[in-house]
Amino acid sequence: MVFMEHNSILHGDCIDVLKRFPEKAVDVIFADPPYNMQLKNPLYRPNNTKVAGVDDLWDKFESFADYDRFCAAWLRECGRVLKDTGSLWVMGSYHNIHRIGALMLDLGFWILNDVVWHKTNPMPNFRGKRFTNATETLLWCVKERNRTKYTFNYKTMKRYNGGKQMPSVWRIGVCAGAERLKGEDGKKAHSTQKPEELLKRVILSSTKKGDIVLDPFFGTGTTGAAAKKLKRLFIGIEKDGGYADIARRRIDGIHGFFEEADWDEEGGAKQKPVPFATLVRERVIREGETLYAKKPEGAAAVVRADGAVCYRGAAGSIHQIGRLVQHTASCNGWKFWYITRSDRLIPIDVLRNDYRKEH
Ligand SMILES: C[S@@+](CC[C@H](N)C(=O)[O-])C[C@H]1O[C@@H](n2cnc3c(N)ncnc32)[C@H](O)[C@@H]1O
Repeated sequence: MVFMEHNSILHGDCIDVLKRFPEKAVDVIFADPPYNMQLKNPLYRPNNTKVAGVDDLWDKFESFADYDRFCAAWLRECGRVLKDTGSLWVMGSYHNIHRIGALMLDLGFWILNDVVWHKTNPMPNFRGKRFTNATETLLWCVKERNRTKYTFNYKTMKRYNGGKQMPSVWRIGVCAGAERLKGEDGKKAHSTQKPEELLKRVILSSTKKGDIVLDPFFGTGTTGAAAKKLKRLFIGIEKDGGYADIARRRIDGIHGFFEEADWDEEGGAKQKPVPFATLVRERVIREGETLYAKKPEGAAAVVRADGAVCYRGAAGSIHQIGRLVQHTASCNGWKFWYITRSDRLIPIDVLRNDYRKEH
C-alpha cells in the first residue's frame, strides 16, 4: 500500500506517475506544460547577443499531432485524479493554449475563465516584425459543465484587489531579480520559471487552507513555494531530476507565510465542526473499516458504529487512540490516521474536507 505523501516532489513522467494516483484525490491542479514553441533558429538582439529562448529538449515534439496526444494523455489523468469539487488551471502561450483549450473542451472540462497574464516587463520584439508578446493565458476550468461546487474565494480576491472585484487580467512582471533562481554558472536555473505572484493568485482564489494542490510539471517548484506560503499542501511531479532537486531546496528554504495565508473567505468565521462520528453515521467512513498510522508502522485501529475507534482492547476518539498509539500527550487524529481509498492510503482529514465542501 502506498501513502499519498503531501508536500512531496515525485520524479518521473507525469503521465506514468499520475496513473498510480487514486481517483478524485486532489483539490486543485495547476499545469504549466511544455509550450511546444518550435523555435528553429537562435534569436539575436540588435547588438548580436543571443537571446536565452526556450530551446530545451523537454519542449520539443515531432508534430502538432504528437503534442496533442501528449496533452490529451496528461489532461485525461488530471481529470481522473481531480475531486469532483476541484478545479484545473492550465497555462500556456499563443503557441499551445488554443490546442490545449480545444482538447480540454473535447475531454468534457468546462472553462470558467481565461485569465490573461499581462506581463508588465515583457521581452521586446527584437526584429520589430510583430507586436511585443506581452501576454500568456491561464484556462481555469471544472471537470464538467454541471460542477458548481468548486472553490472560488470571491471575497478574498476582492480584498486582495483593494476592495474591487478581481478581474481576469493580471498585471504581473516576469520572474526576474532575486526571485529568479540561478545555477552556479550565474545563468537561469530554468528557462520558464513563473513568478510566485501568479501562483499566489491561482492558489489563493481557488483553494482553502489545507487543500492539496497538484502540479504535474513542477519545474523549479513555484507552485509548491506559493502553496507552502499560503498554508496549502502540494504534490509536484517533474521528470528532470535536476529541476526536482532545485525545487526541493527552494521549498525547504521557505520558513515564512504570506499574510494572506490566514485570510478567511467568510471574514474570520470558524469552519463548521465535523465530528468523526458524523462521517461514520453518514457512511463516508464505515463501521469495521481500518485506520492506519504512518508511524509506528503497522499500527491500525478499527472504526466502531458510534464513531469510536478500537486499538488492542482500548476504545476512544481518533485523538485519544492516536495519543495512546504514539505515547504522546497530544495528537490530531485527523492528520494522524489514514484510510484506504482506491487502493491508496489517504489522511482521514481529506474525507472530512470533502464532506464539508459538499454540505
Ligand atoms: C513550463 S515548465 C514549468 C515551470 C514551472 N512552472 C516553474 O515555475 O518553474 C515545464 C516543466 O515540465 C517538465 N516536464 C516536461 N515533460 C514532462 C513530463 N512528461 N512529466 C513531468 N514533467 C515534465 C519540464 O522538465 C519542465 O521543468
